[in-house]
This record gives sequence, structure tokens and C-alpha cells, in this order.
Amino acid sequence: MTEDLRSRVAALWRMDAGGQTLALTSEGGLPSVIYWGARLPEAEDLAQLAASARHDLTGGMLDQLSPLTLTPESGRAFAGQPGLICAEADGTPLHALFRFDRAERQADSLTLISRAPGLTLTHRITAQATGVFTLQTVLEAARDIRVQWLAAPVLPAPQAADHMIDVHGRWVREFHLNHVAWTPGIRAREARTGRSGHEHPPYLILPETGCSNTQGAAFALHYAWSGGHRMLAEELPDGRRQVQFGAPLGAETAAGRRFETAELVAVYSDTGLNGIATAFQRDIRDRVVSWPNPARPRPVHYNCWEAIYFDHSLADLTQIADRAAALGAERFVLDDGWFGRRDDDTRSLGDWTVDRSKWPDGLQPLIAHVRSLGMTFGLWFEPEMVNPDSDLCRAHPDWVLGPLDQVTGRNQLVLDLGRAEVRDHLFDAVSAILSDHAIDYIKWDHNRLLPVVDTAQTHGAYDLFDRLRAAHPGVEIESCASGGGRIDAGILARTHRIWLSDCIDAEERLRMQHDAALFLPSCVTGSHVGAEHSHTTGRALPMAFRAWVAAQRHFGFEMDPRRISDADAAVLTEVTAWYKANRDWMMAGTILRLDSADPSVTAEMQLAADGGRFVVFAGQNAQSVQSLPRPLRLTGLDPAARYRITLRNAVDAPPQSRGPNALKAGPLTLTGRALMGQGILLPVAWPATMWVTEGERL
Ligand code: DGJ
Repeated sequence: MTEDLRSRVAALWRMDAGGQTLALTSEGGLPSVIYWGARLPEAEDLAQLAASARHDLTGGMLDQLSPLTLTPESGRAFAGQPGLICAEADGTPLHALFRFDRAERQADSLTLISRAPGLTLTHRITAQATGVFTLQTVLEAARDIRVQWLAAPVLPAPQAADHMIDVHGRWVREFHLNHVAWTPGIRAREARTGRSGHEHPPYLILPETGCSNTQGAAFALHYAWSGGHRMLAEELPDGRRQVQFGAPLGAETAAGRRFETAELVAVYSDTGLNGIATAFQRDIRDRVVSWPNPARPRPVHYNCWEAIYFDHSLADLTQIADRAAALGAERFVLDDGWFGRRDDDTRSLGDWTVDRSKWPDGLQPLIAHVRSLGMTFGLWFEPEMVNPDSDLCRAHPDWVLGPLDQVTGRNQLVLDLGRAEVRDHLFDAVSAILSDHAIDYIKWDHNRLLPVVDTAQTHGAYDLFDRLRAAHPGVEIESCASGGGRIDAGILARTHRIWLSDCIDAEERLRMQHDAALFLPSCVTGSHVGAEHSHTTGRALPMAFRAWVAAQRHFGFEMDPRRISDADAAVLTEVTAWYKANRDWMMAGTILRLDSADPSVTAEMQLAADGGRFVVFAGQNAQSVQSLPRPLRLTGLDPAARYRITLRNAVDAPPQSRGPNALKAGPLTLTGRALMGQGILLPVAWPATMWVTEGERL
């Protein structure tokens, strides 16, 4: 018989992180959330809060409401998706009924332990100093069991909301926002490609009705795992809403006695989507990423991929390095093509020794030259992969993940990183190159979808990252997966930069960067100035636009710098100098998305941590419907303070800009109230113009 879930005296807990409060009760077998939202006053009575969260009942329902606990249980007649689906090792389904046992409270964390015969379920909630909550579920068993689905602690979703926002994308078109209506039933997303993925990156925003970039309430979740995920956002028949995140179904392939989810990062904002963006950006920058040298300014990159592809020669790369350094580059990255017999993408992945046919004297002459120009040196690897046409695959066909006759992706297979000997081999190979050369940066690529879904592969990859970082603590790593295929807080705990997209067409990038700013800070978001004609869209864009879009984030160049005109070189040199002069406060500041009244203008503000300065980037991405620019309202300023605003690049005004726009003529001084209320009026612009307006608090 089912116990009366209200029969025991309930324990109550409250946690605060930044501007949010999470309150929980043990009433109902397993603990559940009774409140998640804006930070409550200290005086809030938790018993009253718990009482206020109790629902009525009506016809067509059971005689007691099955609670929405941190792990909804299939055995309690819960009408929605359970948070745990498991079985005995022989496959017999298990419908455990847990009872809360005890809590362990530390200053910033709460561990809630519940038990069922032979099983222990632990929910861990931590209030991080960055203002987010991190939540994790651990399941332990006294005997081997199988887990098909284990959700991170399940949170209620807001009911004063008509839609949710999640993220989709594809190669060269990453980070698009989906606005999906809440309806009775389930919105399910599952990334089964073994990566966090272009298709379904593990992020979800739950805005309340009326939320915009700058105002209103929103909740958001991010699952910090790089091996794919499953997300369920469900409205139950009774109207309650729940959200679950975990590894893809069946990703725990082996029977075992301990299973844990990745951390779920949770944020509440009452300052619109920008409050979500502020918390996620701060959390990635100040907690998740561990910087080898936090004081080092984010260096201007030069990457040679779109300049030469696989066609490496010391003579060309020496000339390119000279030109890149003259333009202001500070780190030179040698991309794919330096190892094995890698003349194209059909072979040699796995053979991490320098190709002596291209580099008769090894990489040292190029590295020495790069360093003599004052730049550091970075190198491309794709450690988790192997080409069938490689010495490694010929020697160890058994190291391949999945069957040998599987379909290849970009002509390659995946190595089984669940195996210790594979990880040891890769550690030795990559570590030898790092030890023998002056390298301060790895571009770590991952260019194919996995043939199977298995958490062991992700754990193995993390282990390889961790060992290499421990052995080479001064080396920064970029996470690239055909562009933005592996961007999440799990990989960013081991890396320092993400390659947002293989598309460096500035028009595409402007939009992508805008949407990715909801989750990612400027300092980790790599952005490069490409060639005049984009290699992935064919579109031609002016240098000023290409350069300013790249300067919004961690800046670099990726074109043949020998082929740019003197006029373009002058523009690029100037924007590079601007980036260097402003990067320190920008990288430590916050990107705030502006609610542009003109859909042809994508606009953001970057605000310094002390609020003393800002820059507004307003990118004209198409011809506006109306003739004159609409006012652009700023945000995040002190209404009473006065700010001097200066248009940095009036020179980019088109010939048709012939009116008395004040910003073209010089600075204006206005209060925060005026800037946020009325907004600024920019000059008219051609498509592919980025207006850059600097602000300084007086
Ligand atoms: C895919 C990456 O996204 C590119 O930037 C480049 O590094 C190539 N791989 C190299 O093969």
C-alpha cells in the first residue's frame, strides 16, 4: 500500500544564490521544490511557503496528488515522465519507492539523501558565488543495476509563461533560438551524436509572459555535459510543468553500482533575458573556466586555416606570420595539415608526428620565427579521431569505437576513449609534441558524430583533457567541433575558448554571437576576421564590418593577410588596436542584448564590471523597412548618472547619410535615464555596417 506522503513531519530548506531562492520540502517521499524564483526576504516563513504550494484536487484525479519531486518516481502514479528509469542487471524493471533519509548542510551546499531497499539517491544543490545554482543527482546501488534514464534534479517550470526558448543549429549556422509554445504534453530534445552538438545544444530558457531582453522574469537551465543530452519540458494534465535534463536515453551502457548526472546549472532573472545572460556569462568566466594566467590579456589570434588549408610551406607561413604580426596578431595558430601525411582530410588522423615532407626541419623554424615576431604559437590536434588510412588504425583497429565497417564521417572514425590504453597512447603522443615545442595553445577539434552514445566516451575524453592540462598547465585549449559542435560548461571546465562556428561571414556571426551571448561570455568566444568573400557563404562584406563583428568577442584573423589591400589593412590595424585598448574591461564585463525596435539592427551593449564605461555595437544586417533609424534604447545604466557617448566610426556613414545627426559630429552627454528611456539615434547605414558607440560615465 502506498504510504500517506504527508504523514511525516516535513523538513524544509532554503538556498539563496545571487538574486534567486530555491526552497524545498521533504514532504512527499523524495524532496521537492516548493519555490524557485526571485530571492525571498529573510523573514519568509518556509512552513507557510510549503503550505501555500499545496494544490487542491478535482475529479478525474487520484485521491492524493503525486508530488513533483527532484526525481519523479514511476512507482508513485506520477502522471508525467519519471526522473529515473532503471532495471535489475537482468533487465527486470525496478520501480523503487524512495524515502527521504537525511540532509547534509554546508555553507553553500545542500545534500539530500533518500533511500529505497538497496538503493541510495542523492541530490546535491550548490549555491555558487557566481549567482547560479548547480544541481546533480547520484544513484548508488548495493548490487549491479542498469540505468536507462537518470535526470538531474527536476525543477518546476513557470506557469505564467506561454513559450520556452531552446537552441538549435547546424554546421555554419550555430546558436539559433527556437521559440516553442507550451502546450499540454512534452517538448523533448535529445542530442544523440555523442557531442553537446550543433543540433541541440543543452540550453533552455523559460521566460515568463512579457519577458524581453531587458525586462521581465525568466528561468534558465544548462546541462554541463559534452556527450549529448536529453531534455524534457512537460506540461502535465493537471497543468503543473516540469523540466528534466540528463544523458541521452541508454547512454549508460554498462550495468553498475554508481551513476551520476552532470551538473545542471540553474538561473532565475527578474531583469529579462539579460539577467540570464549576465549570470551564465559570469559563471562560465569566473567559475567554470580555469585560466592558466588570468591576468594575461586575451591575445589577438592569427589562424591559417582559411588562408592555406592543408598546403603548408615554411616559406609561405613565414611571410604570413610577418604580415599577421604587423597587423597586430599576438598568437599564431598552425591548423590542420602538419602531421603524418595529411595532404587532405582523407588520412593521417592519429599519426601525431610532424610531416617531414612538408616540414623537413620540423616545426621549430616556424615556431622560432613566430616567436621572434613577438607572437606565441598554437597547434591544431584532433586527438579523439583516427582515419582508417593511418598508421595508428592499421596498428590498432581494435581501438576504434563501434564496428569497423561503420559509415565514416569526414573520412574518419572515433577512438574508444573508454579504454585506458587508448587514452595513455593519446596522452603520450600529444604530450610529446607539447614538451618538444614552445606551444601555448591547442586548437582541439572533433569533426564527426559518434557511432554510439556512451557516457564512457565523454568521461574518457574529459580524462584525457585533464591529464594533458595537469602535465602542461600553461597551455590554453580551444574547443572546436566542426565549429560549434561542442560548446557547454563541461568542456569549458577543461578549455578556454570555443570556436563558435566555421562560418566567419560577419553577417551570420553577428546574429550567432548575439544569441550565443545568452550563455557565453566574450572572453571564451573566438571570432575571426575572414576573407572578403566568405569561404562558407560566398558573400562579400566590407573590412570594417568584418573587423568590428570579430572585435565583439575574442578577436583574431583568419585569411591570407598577404592578399588584403592597403586600405583594408589600415582598417584592420585600427580595429585591432581598438580591441587591444578595450579588451581588458570588455572581457571582464557583460554583454547585454538590446531590444532593437528595428529587426534589421542587431544590437548589444558591453558594460564594464564597474559600470564606468560601455560600448554599443549596432549591426545593420539588412535594409530597414523605414527610412530613418529607430531610436536604440540602452540598458544597465545608472538613471541619474551622466554619460558621454561618442560614435567611434562616423567614417563608415554611407554617402546618402546627409542630415544633421549629432553623433556624426561629435560626442553627446546624456543621463542614463535619457539613454535608457529615449535611446540613441544613429546615422543611417548601409547593410553590413556596424555602428560602434563608446560611453563613459562622467
Ligand atoms: C574543422 C574546424 O572547425 C576548422 O576550423 C578547421 O580547424 C578544420 N576542422 C581543420 O580540419
